Amino acid sequence: MTDTRTRILTGHRPTGPRHIGHLVGTLENWTRLQDTHECFFLVADLHVLTTNYRPEHLQDNIRQMLADWLAAGIDPQRATIVLQSVIPEHSQLALLFGMLTTVARLERVPTYKDQARELNLQPSSGLLTYPVLQTADILLYKAQAVPVGEDQLPHIELARETARRFNQTFGETFPEPEALLTKAARLPGTDSRTMHTSYGNAILLGDTPAETNRKVMSMYTDPTRLRATDPGHVEGNPVFALLEVFHPHSEDVEELKSRYTAGRVGDVEVKRILAASLNKYLAPLRERRADHLSRPSELMEILYGGTQHARQIARLTLEEVYDKMGLLHDRRLDEQLRGRPTGGAFC
Ligand code: TRP
Repeated sequence: MTDTRTRILTGHRPTGPRHIGHLVGTLENWTRLQDTHECFFLVADLHVLTTNYRPEHLQDNIRQMLADWLAAGIDPQRATIVLQSVIPEHSQLALLFGMLTTVARLERVPTYKDQARELNLQPSSGLLTYPVLQTADILLYKAQAVPVGEDQLPHIELARETARRFNQTFGETFPEPEALLTKAARLPGTDSRTMHTSYGNAILLGDTPAETNRKVMSMYTDPTRLRATDPGHVEGNPVFALLEVFHPHSEDVEELKSRYTAGRVGDVEVKRILAASLNKYLAPLRERRADHLSRPSELMEILYGGTQHARQIARLTLEEVYDKMGLLHDRRLDEQLRGRPTGGAFC
């Protein structure tokens, strides 16, 4: 039976375990979308290589991220989880889209400009074409919508332009994918900057309760407050920003805020309440996560199952693109290769 729901594709680069900002910013949203949309969730491992290649960490990072996704509610029975590098059509389509994209256009992408500035090295052509590969990820499945945060909007804009240009040049093929902007605000990290794995200020989904306590106890609060009896500020205070998200009772948070503002509660007590709230919120997720990680071959089977399903769609799109661009396929070789016995998953 064909699925008539709107198809969405989104993904993360497997840079390591996910943190609580990923959970409330994206994973809870993706989990809800599974009820209403046909979902593809991409493990964008090729994209990791644009800024860092550490082969010894890549596979563990993929497992950690996948365990977090599943623990947060991504359901392989209802959504398709795809490992990008295993499907050559992602790279092939990106190469073809590269023919429709000017270098000047890519040099104007703000994420490229930022990253190029931060790198000590000359940026690679892989970094420049990062959004072309992302465009291929989306259009390969003819996704109609892409749930992303604001930082990704320039990439979705490129995907839309590429779909339009392809359709005009070679005939109607791709829907113009729409960004579904994730509304959740970014969470502050323990140092009050935005939570980010590479800043070392993240509370991880997989942290133990003791690690969570330690991180919360070392959090920044109100820098102007020296004693518990000083009136404190709750705006811009990361402890209160996290309490608002993770404390189960908003009336209690309001009460705590007014005591804090009046200088009637100390930072330590507020932090203890936050650590307890976080540990309670995350406990069932942490249990599921540990359970998944204790069975790594099942994790890989889940990834393999989704990837196989996706590959069939990817192959059809690429055949269509080859035809429209006037390229040939070697169908006989395809058949021969298909008849060959294979080893295990991803051998
Ligand atoms: N660039 C995205 C990020 O860093 C990850 C990604 C790769 C992606 N391919 C995608 C997101 C396709 C949406 C659609 O978050």
